[in-house]
Amino acid sequence: MRLGVLTGGGDCPGLNAVIRAVVRSAANAEKPIEILGIEDGFGALVADGEIRTLSLSHVRGILSRGGTILGTTNRGDPFHYPVKQDDGSTIYQDLSHRCLERMQEHAMDGLIVIGGDGTLKIAHDLAQKGAKVIGVPKTIDNDLEATAYTFGFDSAVNVAVEALDRLKTTAESHDRMMIMEVMGRYAGWIALHAGIAGGAHAILIPEIPYDLVPLKAHLKRRRKRGANHHLIVVAEGALPRGGEHSYNTDIEASKGAMRRLGGAAERLARELAPLEIETRTLVLGHLQRGGSPTYRDRLLGTAFGAHAMELAQNGAWGQMVCLDGIRFTDVPM
Ligand code: F6P
Repeated sequence: MRLGVLTGGGDCPGLNAVIRAVVRSAANAEKPIEILGIEDGFGALVADGEIRTLSLSHVRGILSRGGTILGTTNRGDPFHYPVKQDDGSTIYQDLSHRCLERMQEHAMDGLIVIGGDGTLKIAHDLAQKGAKVIGVPKTIDNDLEATAYTFGFDSAVNVAVEALDRLKTTAESHDRMMIMEVMGRYAGWIALHAGIAGGAHAILIPEIPYDLVPLKAHLKRRRKRGANHHLIVVAEGALPRGGEHSYNTDIEASKGAMRRLGGAAERLARELAPLEIETRTLVLGHLQRGGSPTYRDRLLGTAFGAHAMELAQNGAWGQMVCLDGIRFTDVPM
């Protein structure tokens, strides 16, 4: 058996744990399985990029490493693939057939796709076209349906909690309000978990548009009770009731890519300015995605990778591995 493996979308801690588990499961399989690592998401399939055999030596020592040894991109959707023209312009073409052709050229029996919502949507669409695929859910945002947790989330939350602990000492010393903006796209999981674990005094999440009146009253009450500082966690996708998401307008969204959120903390600071509390904002940004995975994300990634290999060996194509409460199982992609 020959299987391709690729990572797509944003990187996150735990991707290498999955790749390692895939390669090690292949090495331990009864019948030989060759694993082909596909570089830079679906890009290598579409644009004749690098595809190389992954052996045990390639995955030695990568369990604790953040990022992905295969590289990744959130710009290479084969169904809307950017093709540069001679005049410098870019047109978007459906080159998804190239993925199937390249899989055939390399005699791949199937493909393990590790990614978030965008990448798994592509995998699903390729499956509709006849590709044999298995999905592995990843994202720091924890915003995928049918799995209780995705790997990357725990590491991101830990970074955010540590940041809050650090902000707290400055907030206390200077009698300030600190507003920390965390990632998560349109889901508030990182904000909610980090905010509770870090003892935040208010947590704003996209799922519940916020109302400034009770928020201001809450902060005033705290001040009256003698609290000299306030910690607020705001998800990048948080929005005021009746208002809009805050997008980073300095950044042009290229076609096929999602619009980038940003500015929620700054907006909130402006909205709370009438309280006359000295305020500072922090956008935690990509620090949440980098670095070594926590033990939980190593476990989750390893279990997901091993389960994906079981599915491949059983010919259970079109499934996505998941964590159903405490059981590792799978659902149709
Ligand atoms: O989906 C993961 C994520 O980190 C989101 O939380 C964030 O909005 C987005 O990706 C940032 O994407 P990029 O790395 O393209 O700026």
